[in-house]
Amino acid sequence: MTPRNRPAETGSSAIDLALFGALGDLAQRKLLPALYHLDREGLLDENTRLLGLARHDLDREGFRQRVEASLEDHVKAAELDREVLTRFLQRLDFLSLEFLESEGYGAVREWREPGRERPLVVYLSVGAKIYGDICRHLKASGSLDEQSRVVVEKPIGFDLDSSAEINDAIGDVFPESRVYRIDHYLGKETVQNLIALRFANPLFGTQWNQNHISHVEITVAEKVGIEGRWGYFDEAGQLRDMVQNHLLQLVCLIAMDPPANLDADAIRDEKVKVLKALTPFSDDMLGRDVVRGQYMAGTHDGQAVPGYLEEEGANADSHTETFVAIKTGVANWRWAGVPFYLRTGKRMPEKLSQIIIHFRQQPHYIFDPDQRGLAANKLVIRLQPEEGIALEVLTKDSGLDKGMRLRRGPLHLDFGSAFPKTRIPDAYERLLLEVMKGQQYLFVRRDEVEHAWQWCDSLVAAWADRDEPPRRYPAGSWGPVASIAMITQDGRSWYEDY
Ligand code: BG6
Repeated sequence: MTPRNRPAETGSSAIDLALFGALGDLAQRKLLPALYHLDREGLLDENTRLLGLARHDLDREGFRQRVEASLEDHVKAAELDREVLTRFLQRLDFLSLEFLESEGYGAVREWREPGRERPLVVYLSVGAKIYGDICRHLKASGSLDEQSRVVVEKPIGFDLDSSAEINDAIGDVFPESRVYRIDHYLGKETVQNLIALRFANPLFGTQWNQNHISHVEITVAEKVGIEGRWGYFDEAGQLRDMVQNHLLQLVCLIAMDPPANLDADAIRDEKVKVLKALTPFSDDMLGRDVVRGQYMAGTHDGQAVPGYLEEEGANADSHTETFVAIKTGVANWRWAGVPFYLRTGKRMPEKLSQIIIHFRQQPHYIFDPDQRGLAANKLVIRLQPEEGIALEVLTKDSGLDKGMRLRRGPLHLDFGSAFPKTRIPDAYERLLLEVMKGQQYLFVRRDEVEHAWQWCDSLVAAWADRDEPPRRYPAGSWGPVASIAMITQDGRSWYEDY
């Protein structure tokens, strides 16, 4: 029997891909370059076709020119192969469509007729508020069949209620087994490697619990500010934009129990258990275990940059957070008493996403008392910029004068240099390939989204009750001082070996 939804390494069979929002930033910057790369790697079936949909008045030729220009901007020159580019552009059609009006949808059905046997993948790279309308119109126009799939982007809603409404509207048209909710962090190479690292290596399998791990740190720092998205971002804030999805997915992959197999639902069942076990927020945690921040003017790479409230389009009274640090935990047998420290922010000194697993010290220490602070192993899992994994171990410092002095050094696996011939694919390449293959293990199930919202909603409600402004931090710094105090109050510090 062929396992359903299992990871596999082959290319995809032919599909028709209808890309709504085809002229938008995500499509042009990420999705179309990812599809081009799949074509270049020989992973797109020769009969796969793509229909770009947008409100703009454009014809097929105009669309192809726009895509060609975007690929020239977003694909490295050395990877832009003219032959592949020509082949890729030939796959593209364009339809100008008012997404909220049913009339035009007949044209989608007509576009499909010649390839009816191919599954239709509908990619909604548009605001979540109109997911339901588009799905409904597609269904009513007869463009869908029982093989059709839909791919949706975050944010799905603004809180639990709004996400349930959107998921209901999608669910009226597509069953859960054909809904692919993207969290692009799940497509990152090192994030998938977490599964291999944890469940393929007995060394970690036996140590991965509260007996051996003292605490876990996750930092997702961004250098960028708001980048022209002030309106969207100000309604969301860093908690909804980054924690509700990306950081909680990382927590799930770190904390979940081993799934019985690699089937999508086996993995997702385990992730849901983690989300259900997250420490709920209480009022007394606010100042102590949760810190909200907002960046002020500062400098970045030696250049002056404006504060959040001075960005273009800003409302100078906004209390929206651009940084959040949270100390939480997973209340179960495996993780009882192990804090998970999370922090993420915009306008930090560098772009850095990493997870640090801090192992406990040996029960009895016999080396120099002044080196006691060194005496524990750390596993550093770097998602970006350079993907890699390092295990910090202690060895004897070399030299006759050193006695039994200890030295901390990494056992290091840098993916870029360890596998130099392998191009590390962008997250969207992996995710698009999995959708085409009909495999859901890297996508977020509805109950995951909803449990994550439930947890975040309780924090948002607590913030609203307090109505305190976020703490300020200068652009180009690691966040408000209070976020450092949050971890030092426990006798620890954020890992700083950047
Ligand atoms: C997106 C957020 O989901 O992730 C953005 O909406 C953020 O605000 C981006 O900048 C970060 O993604 P990455 O892959 O660059 O870490």
